[in-house]
Formats: sequence, structure tokens, C-alpha cells
Amino acid sequence: MYAIASDPNPLQDFCVADKHSPVLVNGFACLDPKYVTADHFFKAAMLDTPRKTNKVGSNVTLINAKQIPGLNTLGISIARIDYTPLGENPPHTHPRATEILTVLEGTLYVGFVTSNSNNTLFSKVLNKGDVFVFPEGLIHFQFNPNPHQPAVAIAALSSQNPGAITIANAVFGSKPPISDKVLAKAFQVEKGTIDWLQAQNPKPKMASPSFCLFTALLALVSWQAIASDPSPLQDFCVADKHSPVLVNGFACLDPKYVTADHFFKAAMLHTPRKTNKIGSNVTLINVMQIPGLNTLGISIARIDYAPLGQNPPHTHPRATEILTVLEGTLHVGFVTSNPNNTLFSKVLNKGDVFVFPVGLIHFQFNPNPHQPAVAIAALSSQNPGVITIANAVFGSKPPISDEVLAKAFQVGKGTIDWLQAQFWENNHY
Ligand SMILES: *[C@@H]1O[C@H](CO)[C@@H](O)[C@H](O)[C@H]1NC(C)=O
Ligand SMILES: *[C@@H]1O[C@H](CO)[C@@H](O)[C@H](O)[C@H]1NC(C)=O
Ligand SMILES: *[C@@H]1O[C@H](CO)[C@@H](O)[C@H](O)[C@H]1NC(C)=O
Ligand SMILES: *[C@@H]1O[C@H](CO)[C@@H](O)[C@H](O)[C@H]1NC(C)=O
Repeated sequence: MYAIASDPNPLQDFCVADKHSPVLVNGFACLDPKYVTADHFFKAAMLDTPRKTNKVGSNVTLINAKQIPGLNTLGISIARIDYTPLGENPPHTHPRATEILTVLEGTLYVGFVTSNSNNTLFSKVLNKGDVFVFPEGLIHFQFNPNPHQPAVAIAALSSQNPGAITIANAVFGSKPPISDKVLAKAFQVEKGTIDWLQAQNPKPKMASPSFCLFTALLALVSWQAIASDPSPLQDFCVADKHSPVLVNGFACLDPKYVTADHFFKAAMLHTPRKTNKIGSNVTLINVMQIPGLNTLGISIARIDYAPLGQNPPHTHPRATEILTVLEGTLHVGFVTSNPNNTLFSKVLNKGDVFVFPVGLIHFQFNPNPHQPAVAIAALSSQNPGVITIANAVFGSKPPISDEVLAKAFQVGKGTIDWLQAQFWENNHY
């Protein structure tokens, strides 16, 4: 069920980042190997020394390909994270990496929330020496529950430029802001509440200056790192849903039993769907519907929007999306990673096409009060996954501690309790 998304494989022993190359490539161009020394793989990063924490009580010192140019093409980076007493690294995702965290000092309450529709919270209290994994693209957090002692962790990430999206900042602090109409409906609160949240103008909370700088610089050149399902190793590997063997994706059906119907579904994607209370319905055709999609790295969806309906802010942890408007008008947008959290938005008309890069928070809104809209979206995974932000953050089962969320969203615990008590309807599986 868990497709691999990862940085591109290296095609040589190393490709040290040439930061002075005028050529923009995925990642960085390679420095001529004759100039490469051990120092290109080294940084006196002082990861043993405590960092000053910010107002949510944490500081992430990320060492990625910008600090250690030898990391270019090698698909890994590392961070030290400091937590004050009661400090937290608020709910965030890494669009391009799985994270493995080791506690060096203190105690951490950590957790991640799975994709729709379950939005299950997997949480755990970690002690010194404990290790925990946060799967690629899922919303996660760490909180130091000790009111007296700080905590420290080392996190390794499976990308030279994992990116970080702090949920509160990207959703309520994007520049320019996401329409309060979109957010009011997505978070089931009044527009006034959204305006108030947006006026907090949250600063990137997990970003140290180093993190900001490196992320921003890297983002310039490696904004579109490739994340993709594993490449197929044969013409096809039709999903054998009855195999007792659990593999990444599905085991292959014996090719002698494969027919054209394994690549087919009478999906009736031409017919309108009933929309839910936020005014949309996503009909996803993935490997569960078409077993022939197994190992092929693609899936497709029809999305229906009622007048003023929306597909609320969400991410696909394992896919880039390319959307085509079939009927009506859509106001769409995505927000970039920390620290900029820039909103790229656009009004699309019938026939227009728009791309949402892997793992970034995005939305679609039908601004027309009278006409519905329809789109077809293709996604670069057999199982892209969907994380509706409001549902995963406020509707996880069991709930995320209200202490963690109150600090992350800069609101009172009462507001969080109220939000958690709402019914978070899923439009999207
Ligand atoms: C993180 O720690 C460094 C070193 O102590 C400090 O210079 C920086 O301001 C801190 N960042 C934040 C966001 O607090
Ligand atoms: C989601 O929850 C259902 C019902 O509890 C369970 O059967 C299913 O295995 C869960 N799916 C995942 C991916 O955890
Ligand atoms: C982030 O913003 C800074 C300042 O406006 C700009 O120089 C930089 O190019 C931006 N980075 C990205 C990735 O957009
Ligand atoms: C989506 O549409 C289908 C077909 O009209 C319907 O059965 C389903 O309940 C709808 N889902 C939601 C979430 O509204």
C-alpha cells in the first residue's frame, strides 16, 4: 500500500553541488570531480550544542545539500531539533521525505496522522534513545511534555531537500492569503475567525535562519524534485488482491490470468456526482479500482464542485497532480514550503490545465454561485493518498492533544476543543 517516493537515484559515485553553476537543474549541477575534496562532504555543524528556541519552543537546525554540497543526488539530510520545556515542533509535513527521529535528551510526545479517510493518529511517548519514523508526506508533530527539562532529537530525512510545510503557517499565513471564503468552509468556522487567524500572520515556527536560508536557496533550484512510485520491472504487474503476501503495493497476478478487464473500469466518469456539504465529490480511480495500475505510478479522478463548492486544502503525500477543467470555472492554488509559504493561485476556465507539485497544500473553489464545475485530475501514483488538512489536524482519531494544537494555531484550548468536536466530513478517499 505504501508506494516509494524518493529523490532521483544517483547516476555516479557523487555529484557535489556546484553552487556557482548558472545551469538550473533538478537539485544542483555537479562540480567537476577533479575539484572535489573531503570538505565537500563535511560541515562543522556543532550539532552537539543547544540552540535558542522560538516562541512555540523549538528550533530545527537542518543540514541539507546547501550546507553539505556532497549531499546533492544522495537523497538524505539531517537535523538537530531543540525543544524547550513544553515546547513543540508544530504539525507539519515534509513533501519530499520520510523522517527517522532519535531522542538524545528528554521526553517527547510525538505522532503522525494517516491519510483520508481514517485520519488515524499514531502517537507515542519517546524517551532518551528511542527512535520513531514519520512516513513521507504525513502530518506529524513533536511536543516536549516536561515542564522543567528541555529535549533534543536528531532527525534524518530521506531527501537532500525534504522541505517543510508548517500547517498553521501555510494555511493561515500564506502570502497572499488564501481566500477567507475557502478557509471558512474548509475549517467550518466563520469568516471573521479566519480573518482573525490570518491577522496573526504566523512566522515560520520551525524554521531557524539556517533552515530558512537553505530551504529558500535550494527551493530555487530544486523546487521540483522527483518523487515517484517505484519503476515497473516488467510490462505489467496486475494487483493480486487475494495474495496473502503483503508487499509495497500489491503482489503480481500470474500473467497467464491477466485480461484486458484488469486495465479497465466502467467508471462513468462522464456522469455528475452528488456533492457533500462543502460542495465537492472526488471520485478516485486508483489501483483499488483498476488492478492493472499496480506498479505503473498513475491514477485519475473526477471532481465535481457544486456552485460555491470547494475541494478544501489538502495534500497528496505521494503524487503530483495535473488538473483539467471540463466544465465551469475554478479558483485554484497551492502554497509553497517554509519559509515563504507563497500562494500561487489562478482562476481556471473550461479546458485549462493546472499542476499541483507533490506534497504541497492545495485547493480548488468554484466561485460561481449558479453553475457547478467539473475537473479531471491525473495523479503520479497508483495510490496518491489524500490528507484533508482540517480533518487530519482537528478530526484525527484519537484527537491530537489540544495543548499541541492550541500552541500551533495560536488560539485558546477552548477553540481547539470546539473544532475537534465538529464533524469533519470527508469528500475524498
Ligand atoms: C535557532 O538557533 C540558532 C542558534 O542558537 C539561532 O541563531 C536562531 O535564531 C534560532 N532560530 C529560531 C527560529 O529560534
Ligand atoms: C481504516 O479503518 C478501517 C475500519 O476501522 C480498517 O478496516 C482499515 O484497515 C483502516 N485502513 C487503514 C489504511 O488503516
Ligand atoms: C522566498 O522569498 C525571498 C524573498 O522574497 C525570495 O528571494 C526567494 O526567491 C523566495 N524563494 C522561493 C523559493 O520562492
Ligand atoms: C459522491 O458521489 C457518489 C455518486 O453520486 C455518491 O454515491 C457518494 O455518496 C458521493 N460522496 C460524497 C462524499 O458526497
